[in-house]
Amino acid sequence: MAPNFNTSDSLYDFVVKNGNGVKGLIDSGLSEVPERYIQPEEERIKKVKTKRHDVSPIDLSKLKGPDHKKVLDEIVRAAETLGFFQVVNHGVPLELLESLKDSAHKFFNLSPEEKSLFYPGVSPSTKVKYGTSFAPEKEKALEWKDYISMGYTDDHDALQYWPNECKEVALDYLKLSSTMVRDIVEILIENLGVRVEESRIEGIIGMKMVNMNYYPLCPNPDLTVGVGRHSDMGTITVLLQDGIGGLYVKLEHNNNNHNDGEWLEVPPIPGALVINIGDTIQWCHWYKILSNGKYKSAEHRVRTTSTESRVSIPVFIFPKPTEKIGPLEELVKKEGVARYREVMFQDYMNNFFANAHHGKKSLEFAK
Ligand code: OGA
Ligand code: NI
Repeated sequence: MAPNFNTSDSLYDFVVKNGNGVKGLIDSGLSEVPERYIQPEEERIKKVKTKRHDVSPIDLSKLKGPDHKKVLDEIVRAAETLGFFQVVNHGVPLELLESLKDSAHKFFNLSPEEKSLFYPGVSPSTKVKYGTSFAPEKEKALEWKDYISMGYTDDHDALQYWPNECKEVALDYLKLSSTMVRDIVEILIENLGVRVEESRIEGIIGMKMVNMNYYPLCPNPDLTVGVGRHSDMGTITVLLQDGIGGLYVKLEHNNNNHNDGEWLEVPPIPGALVINIGDTIQWCHWYKILSNGKYKSAEHRVRTTSTESRVSIPVFIFPKPTEKIGPLEELVKKEGVARYREVMFQDYMNNFFANAHHGKKSLEFAK
């Protein structure tokens, strides 16, 4: 029976509470974007005006050869300018990338009843969560996205609690990308002239989570967002996107650049992974970084598509929850002012997930 969406509440219950997600909405034959999904004018993503970030992906296999220094510079430069770059020869086999996209479709094609087994409260693990939008109870306009989030503790738990449709491939992905993650983070730190111990590196890449995002096709991409503008909270993010496109990143603060503030599309490149810098890097003392720091944790967002459903599969890398993060003491002394206070990563994270996506306001918490 076609659901009745006469009231905003009945829509909300159908999508958010009963496990249908945005996918259920589309599967019910809906042909118009419901009011609840219509974004205010300033948040809408207009396709006509945007440019593509057409830069060759960085070949990570060259880190081991005579071009080592050149590749290293490419990574640092990208982290300092756009905060986003793409990599190839990253250690994750291409067949695995294909299986990941397939398994994401498999999971989201399950019935609402099967997917809602992973709702918070009923999910067999607090680390595994199926949901829709980002923070539906806090958002005026909902995001056009369903997701499954799989926090990693150990292999045993992953294979026991993650959904059958995707647990093996997601775990392989997390593991096979971890050498690259460590290499990139080490390169970024070493470039600042900071020597850090192995255990410190472990601390800043010590928590990992694989998500699968599903953006159903949308009757009107001009009115909606797949993901509203936000920056990622953690250390870095590795993202696999399919061939559909729609990921946009904001170009900022590049001295005298007349393109400042412009949104660029990060185009799908077959076989490549997208890497982006997270918020933690902007204020955590290991990086000796001020708020107007060297590496960019850029705002990004996703436009929906009217023809096909898109999937993307990020691995989020965070510091361990108990790591203390805050501004570098010697910088505070020198400036006479601490722009950020020291907080435990866990507290910062709880704040981030308790609020709707809204640009970079999550950094305000540490002020
Ligand atoms: C995210 C995100 C982008 C995408 O999940 O944080 O920014 O392309 N995703 O799905
Ligand atoms: Ni993101």
